[in-house]
Amino acid sequence: MKKNIRALALALASAMAMVLLAGCAGSQTDGRMIIRIGHNQSTNHPTHIALVAFEEFIESKLGDKYDVEVFPSELLGSQNEMVQLTQTGAINFCVASNSLLETFSDNYTLFNLPYLFDSSTAYHAAMDDESITGPIFESTKQAGFEAVTWLDAGTRNFYTVDKPIETPADLKGLKIRVQQSPTNVEMMSLLGGSATPMGFGDVYTALQSKIIDGAENNELALTDNGHGDVCKYYSYDMHQMIPDILIGNTAFLDGLSEEERAIFDEGFELVNQVQREEWGQAVEEAKDRAQNEQGVQFLYPDTAPFQEACAPMHQEMLAAHPDLQPIYDAIQAYNEQYPSDAE
Ligand code: GCU
Repeated sequence: MKKNIRALALALASAMAMVLLAGCAGSQTDGRMIIRIGHNQSTNHPTHIALVAFEEFIESKLGDKYDVEVFPSELLGSQNEMVQLTQTGAINFCVASNSLLETFSDNYTLFNLPYLFDSSTAYHAAMDDESITGPIFESTKQAGFEAVTWLDAGTRNFYTVDKPIETPADLKGLKIRVQQSPTNVEMMSLLGGSATPMGFGDVYTALQSKIIDGAENNELALTDNGHGDVCKYYSYDMHQMIPDILIGNTAFLDGLSEEERAIFDEGFELVNQVQREEWGQAVEEAKDRAQNEQGVQFLYPDTAPFQEACAPMHQEMLAAHPDLQPIYDAIQAYNEQYPSDAE
């Protein structure tokens, strides 16, 4: 009930935000331009903490000109809606999961592949390498937005209301929420479950009302989004490391002077750093809370059968996008260098 009221309040706030935003792109208060940044996480989340650091940084350097406002918790709409608002310039920035961006540019499909990275170290090294991310991050410029930095969103794993997932066979017959992307739907079908794509904000209610049997995400979804109140098994099959991406409206970014752009670039770097510093501890705390307060049981199945089931997706993606082969190969080189995480 409490959650329903919260959902209703959020929907109303979101509708109000849309009305407020309509027709006021680039609006000004006391002569300063308002820069709006939307995301779908709570105010405790590392992403929000990092964006507040960005707000403070930009205002400390360019506060006479810009007023940065961060809108958490889908206040400006679902991620899909926020990407479109960023694309048209109704808002300046938003955080979107790389999953969703694949429907705006095929190039993003690469980072959505299951078992693309062999370790978190390889994942971080690849995402920090501009020769890997650059061509992908710039590929949506024509569409009106570009990626300015990436954010850690950990490892995605399955969690279910009442059925422990130990092997892919356990997923058979289960309706599992996935993000709205063709790659995620295909992954789910290769693993034998039934994919139910929906926006992040709808997952709690769908779990509670048993429209779905489970979902897949990092550990913070259990605590921050309350999914661990309903789902009692979290299974480390480690199927994806999908980054979140901070995207900005291209016209806004191109309109900055060279000096301003340098300051914004420093700010984007800060978002990446602060978010990463906060991430590790946030995951530890979420795990602890899920286990001890929500009664979630963590399982550590053999990941090989999951990986084998998804393996054809790599060759399929490369056959469809041969231009991504050199980037894929560069990622494999990081996998060879960092096959596992040092303890
Ligand atoms: C993670 C990710 C979000 C995404 C969500 C989802 O929480 O950080 O960007 O929206 O997963 O599953 O939709």
